[in-house]
Amino acid sequence: MKPKKVIFSAMQPSGTPQLGNYLGAIKNWVGLQEDYSCRFCVADLHSVTVRQDPESLRQNSLSLFALFLAAGLDHERGIVYFQSHVPAHTQLTWALSCLTYMGELNRMTQFKDKSQKHSDNINAGLYTYPVLMAADILLFRADLVPVGEDQTQHVELCRDVAERFNNLYGDILTVPEPFVSGAAARVMGLSEPSRKMSKSENGSENNVVFLTDPPEIIAAKFKRAVTDSDNQVRFDPENKPGVSNLINIYRAVTGKTVPETEKEFENSGYGAFKTAVAESVIAELSPLQDRYSRLMADAPFLEAAVKRGAERAAEEAAPLLKKVMDAVGFAPR
Ligand code: TYM
Repeated sequence: MKPKKVIFSAMQPSGTPQLGNYLGAIKNWVGLQEDYSCRFCVADLHSVTVRQDPESLRQNSLSLFALFLAAGLDHERGIVYFQSHVPAHTQLTWALSCLTYMGELNRMTQFKDKSQKHSDNINAGLYTYPVLMAADILLFRADLVPVGEDQTQHVELCRDVAERFNNLYGDILTVPEPFVSGAAARVMGLSEPSRKMSKSENGSENNVVFLTDPPEIIAAKFKRAVTDSDNQVRFDPENKPGVSNLINIYRAVTGKTVPETEKEFENSGYGAFKTAVAESVIAELSPLQDRYSRLMADAPFLEAAVKRGAERAAEEAAPLLKKVMDAVGFAPR
């Protein structure tokens, strides 16, 4: 039997995860576990590229780990762990940093966006962040990296760096493919459908649906979602960005197609449509929220799962790191 292909992905624990993180990433990860060997991490090292309050970072990290498990990531079959618990991530980052050009990093749109947003803290980590992300992926020899659209540029850079490494040192790194799912590749804000929904967003309070929002808040946020004046549930991202975003959310949750969705709501106004979208999201998130609350109340279970994840991830990462160190020419210990 051929070994399963490997999937790697990660999420930053900066703030509370939102619906875009779930539909664009976590929900797909859950669905891929049957067919792939999966490694998922809480990317806490990435988070400190933006200033974090230490206690909030600790809490958000544990809470994201619990949310991963609550959403259905299987930490027995796959590996779920904290990035900062596996030093090989930063060790590999150094080797790769010396093969990544500043010209490449200068082109990263996320760096440009974040430098604008955090103009008082344009630090070296924010700049080299894509190299750490490349190390995450390459360390586990991932074949496929399921991400939302905003991360594909980083995965492309990872591929370029891996190919450069292999050209210099031999066929050591697996060159990964990004894997972006259709409907929820880019979930937009509910009040600002021209901008992607983001957990670090501090715009209007109805713009972002957080995964821990109670049902009545989710319903209220969808009710206030920005639409347009023609009252037709029709998919047209250019002219009807708000409605098209709601259709995408509905599709991602229910698995329905655009024509099915348009047909289902052809005689309803926006009010009924928004209620249906909200209800589908609430039905999807409620069981996750119940499991999340139970897990957060079970500290011993979480502690054991965190420890075991770190051990297994470190063990699995060690051989690749050793190969890289040897290939680069560092003296053996
Ligand atoms: P992060 O934490 O910003 O987001 C985690 C995942 O959620 C996706 N996502 C979205 N998808 C659709 N619509 C949205 N509005 C939306 N917002 C976020 C992101 O595309 C991502 O898949 N650098 C990464 C974390 C990371 C990583 C990695 C990912 C670190 N190492 C290695 C893949 C592989 C990040 O900041 O994602």
